[in-house]
Amino acid sequence: MEWMWTDVFSHPLWAFSTLILGLVVRAQRRGPWDPRACPVELKGKTAIVTGANTGIGKFVALDFARRGARVILACRSEARGSAAMREIRQRSGNEDVHLRLVDTSSLTSVREFADRILKEEKQLHILVNNAGASGLPTQITSDGLEVSFATNHVGPFLLTNLLLDLMKRSAPARIVTVSSANHWRGTVDFSHFRGDNISYGMDTVYNHTKLHNIICTNELARRLQGTGVTANSLHPGVVMTEVMRHYNLLMRFLFNLVGIFFFKSAKEGAVSTIYCAVSEEVEGITGKYFDSDCSLVLPAPLARDPALAVKDFEFCERLTAKL
Ligand SMILES: NC(=O)c1ccc[n+]([C@@H]2O[C@H](COP(=O)([O-])OP(=O)(O)OC[C@H]3O[C@@H](n4cnc5c(N)ncnc54)[C@H](OP(=O)(O)O)[C@@H]3O)[C@@H](O)[C@H]2O)c1
Repeated sequence: MEWMWTDVFSHPLWAFSTLILGLVVRAQRRGPWDPRACPVELKGKTAIVTGANTGIGKFVALDFARRGARVILACRSEARGSAAMREIRQRSGNEDVHLRLVDTSSLTSVREFADRILKEEKQLHILVNNAGASGLPTQITSDGLEVSFATNHVGPFLLTNLLLDLMKRSAPARIVTVSSANHWRGTVDFSHFRGDNISYGMDTVYNHTKLHNIICTNELARRLQGTGVTANSLHPGVVMTEVMRHYNLLMRFLFNLVGIFFFKSAKEGAVSTIYCAVSEEVEGITGKYFDSDCSLVLPAPLARDPALAVKDFEFCERLTAKL
């Protein structure tokens, strides 16, 4: 019988080697740092996690709750946020977990949220800017901002700045911003903020916003030198969450199919954020960017340009002051 190259696929060795490869890839998704082995306790500490009702944010909030923190879930949906709050309380045994509503795409909502936090909270030790969205359709918000920029960057930028004095009074404190390795494909053009000169291919706009996250976090860290408040950003990995919800069915199907083998679970994807927020290793480290395996790595050259960082930060300050 003639041998065909496709016979390889029906050979038992093919199935076996595929299984072994799959298991090796799965095992490698775990980074060397294990939150469960980190003894840091957060009793008496207060933490805010934005976008904590699902995905990465929910596991970050759960970890903080298990460490005994007072945790504020900053979510935009009362129903989804309440469900997450109940789940986190039940799984952690910590009743000091609370829901406060905020829509990061609306500067009015961000100001109302921050006002309430400043009235209710005496201290704030950890702020995790996690809420974000990819593939949002073209839209200009009521503040006149491009919606992905508003959601992923301008809203979180304003929120962080409104809470800064409280964090300084609570020092040592940490600001952690969940960016993405996609920032490598981002560019800086200040007209993007208003939706001008933007092309909407795939995740193009998202990539720009994630680059601004790192640039402004680095400048914030520089400004916070000596205050005891640190600011770092990170890539969580490619993580099986609801992050693809704004893409078409085919894209979502392919993402989930490939993801079964190669991508992290939401729990695994939360690790680099938890590392930046609580680990002793990161104590005092500021203005840095961490990879999904918790290693300290250099971000893209644009994110390392200090003159651009000053310009970007001042631009965002003027933008949020006016709106
Ligand atoms: N998953 C990945 O592969 C990946 C890779 C790199 C970076 N990231 C980043 O990781 C972060 C978390 O994403 P995820 O993967 O966990 O995605 P996810 O499952 O879609 O969770 C995103 C969270 O952000 C919230 N959110 C979105 N827009 C918001 C708004 N305008 N106001 C308030 N909350 C809002 C969502 O709330 P609703 O449920 O109410 O929409 C949800 O809680 C994001 O910043 C994302 O860019 C993810």
